[in-house]
Amino acid sequence: MNRNSFSPDLLANPHIPGLEAYTPGKQPAGAGWTKLNTNENPYPPSPKVEEAIRREAEGARLRLYPDPRSGELRTALGELHGLSSENICVGNGSDDILNLFVRVFCDSKPAAFTLPSYSLYPVLIGIQNGRTVAWEFDRRMELDVDRLADLPASILFLTSPNAPTGVGFPAERVAALAEEFSGILVVDEAYADFANENVAGLVREYPNLCVTRSFSKSYSLAGLRVGYALASKRIIELIDRVRDSYNVNRISQAAALAALADRDYFRAVLGKIKRIRNAYQTDFRERGWFTYESRANFIFTEPVGTGGGRGEKYARSLYNHLYRNRVLVRHFPTHALTSGFLRISVGSEEEMLKLTECIETWTGNEQPK
Ligand SMILES: Cc1ncc(COP(=O)(O)O)c(C=O)c1O
Repeated sequence: MNRNSFSPDLLANPHIPGLEAYTPGKQPAGAGWTKLNTNENPYPPSPKVEEAIRREAEGARLRLYPDPRSGELRTALGELHGLSSENICVGNGSDDILNLFVRVFCDSKPAAFTLPSYSLYPVLIGIQNGRTVAWEFDRRMELDVDRLADLPASILFLTSPNAPTGVGFPAERVAALAEEFSGILVVDEAYADFANENVAGLVREYPNLCVTRSFSKSYSLAGLRVGYALASKRIIELIDRVRDSYNVNRISQAAALAALADRDYFRAVLGKIKRIRNAYQTDFRERGWFTYESRANFIFTEPVGTGGGRGEKYARSLYNHLYRNRVLVRHFPTHALTSGFLRISVGSEEEMLKLTECIETWTGNEQPK
């Protein structure tokens, strides 16, 4: 080995040095931020979660590896969804599960997703050196089932409710897509608990339909990383083959079980978030800002300047104004359908009041000419 000329890039798999890593939303250091940028839950997890974590950490338990299959959690999730534990796989966040799907099903045929949607899919496909096919929505953000079903892909990722728009797709349209598409259809339902309908129950009917869910949003457990897949027994067996053996740690398994069991708390938190979401959606519309009907815990809205201007310059201007006031939201400038909008996670009432105060001070002086 020659120290001067040694280059790890030359030894890496050829496609790796050119990859771009996924860019997560900012996690600012220091206090005083109103954080409405990564769709975390503004409320803490159920108090039962803290007890469960304490119990799990007691004595010498953490000395031992966790249950590699997260068996108890699979059983509990099976019961929740009216499925068998054989239809469930638990992951280190739903990102882990999405990655497992790419590892198993991304092959010589491209892997497909919609634009806009969750920007992690092309990153995962890139890591696998797969080819991508992106299907573009128009401003109406409606599913074109026939076109999507014709995509030449072995796997198709559909986010419902979609990110960053918050638009939910009717279950019967998603079912029609599962029927028509010949590959694996993964419906990423990270936000489905905030919606009125979902397709989890349909995995029994459609052998190519897989659903992914997350504990990060509706159960307030983003910091512990738990997500899961619902799919046919055979698909679960396949993704279990490529899973890290201990992919969910003891604390996370115990916490997720406790969160799942506290249905009253879960329903109360969802109710609060949906109420705040609906109120602010109305508020943005009353300002004359075009706002998609949100079925998620965030709102996608197109700010309008005091002189009536809208578009990327205005979205960026409001983003910067909010940032200067330590309110963090998300701007997606890379796509024409998203660049004029801001995505605002639904915060607590106090956080949303702070947001409103800052919107009120986004005056003509600060806005683009
Ligand atoms: C559409 C979508 N899917 C999946 C995830 C990731 O969820 P998890 O925290 O369970 O990995 C996110 C996170 O923001 C998301 O927006």
